[in-house]
Amino acid sequence: MLYGVGVGPGDPELLTLKAQRLISQVPVVFVPISRQGERSVAMDIAQHCLDPNKQEIVFLLFPMSRRPAVLQEAWSEAAAKIAGRLKAGQDGAFLTEGDPGLYSTFAYVLERLRSCLPELRVEIVPGVSSINAAAARSLTPLATGDESIAVVTGAHMDKLKAALRNHNTVVILKVKPAYDRILDMLEQEGLAGQAVLVERATSEGERVVEDIKSLRGQEMDYFSLLIVRKR
Ligand SMILES: C[S@@+](CC[C@H](N)C(=O)[O-])C[C@H]1O[C@@H](n2cnc3c(N)ncnc32)[C@H](O)[C@@H]1O
Repeated sequence: MLYGVGVGPGDPELLTLKAQRLISQVPVVFVPISRQGERSVAMDIAQHCLDPNKQEIVFLLFPMSRRPAVLQEAWSEAAAKIAGRLKAGQDGAFLTEGDPGLYSTFAYVLERLRSCLPELRVEIVPGVSSINAAAARSLTPLATGDESIAVVTGAHMDKLKAALRNHNTVVILKVKPAYDRILDMLEQEGLAGQAVLVERATSEGERVVEDIKSLRGQEMDYFSLLIVRKR
C-alpha cells in the first residue's frame, strides 16, 4: 500500500490525525528533496512522527528544473525506488508539503508507478493546503455565496489576466520567479490594492504583507503566494 500523505503548510499541529498515524506506522517513508543533502520541508513538519531507528527514510531527488528530460528522469527514478520497496511487501508513505493534489510531484510519480505496478493500492491523505493556510493567516475569506475562485501560478500572465477578470478571488502560487511581472499585471487591472502576500504561512518566519507594492524588486521566498480578493 502506498499512502500519499499531505503534511500541511508548516505548523506541525496542522497535520491530520490520520497523517500522523500513518507516518508513524509505515516501515518506509519517502521524502522529496530538491538537492542532495538538503533538508526536506515535509520531513521537518512530520519529524515528530518519525523514528529513524524503526523506519527507513528514503530520499527522492526532484531537482528544481524546467527541463522535461531532467524531470522525467527524476520521476522515473523515484518511481523505481518506491516500487522496489513496495514489491518487497513494505507499505510506504510519500510525504507532501501541503496537500498531495495541489502542484505536488506525487501526481507524476504515481502515474509512473501505476504503469509499472498496475496492482498497486494507493490512498491519498489530504493535507491543509497553502491556500487554506494563507487565507486563514491573512483573515481573507476565499469565497462567499456563489462566488468563484481561481488558482493559478505566476508562470503565465495570460492565464492570470483571464483569472483576474473572471473570478472573485484569485490565488497565485509560485510567485517567486515572476513577482514584479505579477505586480505589473495587478496594477494594470487596478487590483494591487486588493491583494495580500503570505509568505511561509503557519511556519517560522511567516509574513503577511498587505502593501504588496512595497515588495517590488525584492527576492521573494519560494513559499509565498498572493490572494487577490476583488471588492
Ligand atoms: C509546488 S507548490 C506546492 C503546494 C502544496 N502542495 C500545497 O498544497 O500548498 C509550491 C508553492 O506553494 C505555495 N506554498 C506552499 N507552502 C506555502 C506556505 N507555507 N506559505 C505560502 N505559500 C506556500 C508557494 O506558492 C509555493 O511556491
